[in-house]
Amino acid sequence: MPHCAIVGTGFYVPDRVVTNEELTHLMDTSDEWIVERTGIRERRWVPEGMSGAEMARRASEAALEEAGLEASEVDAIVLATLSPDHFFPGTGVFLQRELGIPGVPAIDLRAQCSGFLYGLSVCDAFIRSGQYRTILLVGVEIHSTGLDMSTRGRDLAVLFGDGAGAVVLRATDEEGRGVLSTHIHADGRFAEILWAEYSSSARHPRIDAEVLAQGRHYPTMQGREVFKHAVVRMPEAVMEALETNGLTTEDIDLLIPHQANQRISEMVRRRLKLPEEKLVDNIARYGNTTAATIPIALAEAVRDGRLERGDLLCMVAFGSGFTWASALVRW
Ligand SMILES: CC(C)(COP(=O)(O)OP(=O)(O)OC[C@H]1O[C@@H](n2cnc3c(N)ncnc32)[C@H](O)[C@@H]1OP(=O)(O)O)[C@@H](O)C(=O)NCCC(=O)NCCS
Repeated sequence: MPHCAIVGTGFYVPDRVVTNEELTHLMDTSDEWIVERTGIRERRWVPEGMSGAEMARRASEAALEEAGLEASEVDAIVLATLSPDHFFPGTGVFLQRELGIPGVPAIDLRAQCSGFLYGLSVCDAFIRSGQYRTILLVGVEIHSTGLDMSTRGRDLAVLFGDGAGAVVLRATDEEGRGVLSTHIHADGRFAEILWAEYSSSARHPRIDAEVLAQGRHYPTMQGREVFKHAVVRMPEAVMEALETNGLTTEDIDLLIPHQANQRISEMVRRRLKLPEEKLVDNIARYGNTTAATIPIALAEAVRDGRLERGDLLCMVAFGSGFTWASALVRW
């Protein structure tokens, strides 16, 4: 049975850097509050007119280049996002159009911060089953156009940023290389803890002036609840992946957690008793880019020479849904 190897990584973030200090002109917050509570120092925002599909295309081209492949060699696209460019069709078809590969299936996947690892799980199954040999997996997010940038929305507004990350996945018969296993979970009892209630197809009309005036089209979050669950579920998912493969935390060479909050990543690292140098942490520069955090961090880790052939890479995520997931990859 073929298995699934990551053969290329890439990312794209907009040029516009938004510092914590800049946010203080929009809302009642401070650099100290944001850094102390989250570790975030700056994030990127898209310029007017830049779409998620465009960022996804730029990240994909970088990943294809690293893989030494042409877009025409891609058999399928899986794109994870919670912030699609349009209600429908999915951002995946716009990416496919930008890459110029008509006919290739484009699957949009909605699992919020766990979107990339859910996507990896789907792609791994496609490749193992023999259905596709080369898949482009992308996580992309535009948060800056959808957050309440006033003091009312400051708890969320300071956390999120825009960006895209991509990987090229390929079938391989090479022993001891590729995805060892993926583990995906959800618990919908917590759906409203972190969500965007409007616009809603379940409401007539989907959105109205009153909802807009109340700001109920902006996402809301019970931050402490998210925090509490994340620091339990993430180590649990890592242990599940290790146990499935008969491995221990000592076997991990690099841990890439979803970049939600530096304190969450630190707590996960400590619970797993991993040394600091095994943790990938770039939240200070990009904030939380949701489905894009892990592929961006992975692409940076590759560029920084932090992964060598044979290394054990562990990825883990937690987010809205709640959803959570982990994956182990032999590099
Ligand atoms: C959001 C988070 C940083 C808030 O930290 P916290 O220590 O729990 O802070 P609280 O929410 O209790 O708020 C403490 C105070 O800071 C205020 N505050 C909230 N956001 C603020 C901001 N950006 N700037 C300044 N003050 C802020 C609150 O209004 C509150 O004030 P009050 O005590 O007068 O009511 C933290 O809960 C967290 O990181 N949660 C996880 C969120 C996450 O990762 N979400 C994405 C998941 S994928």
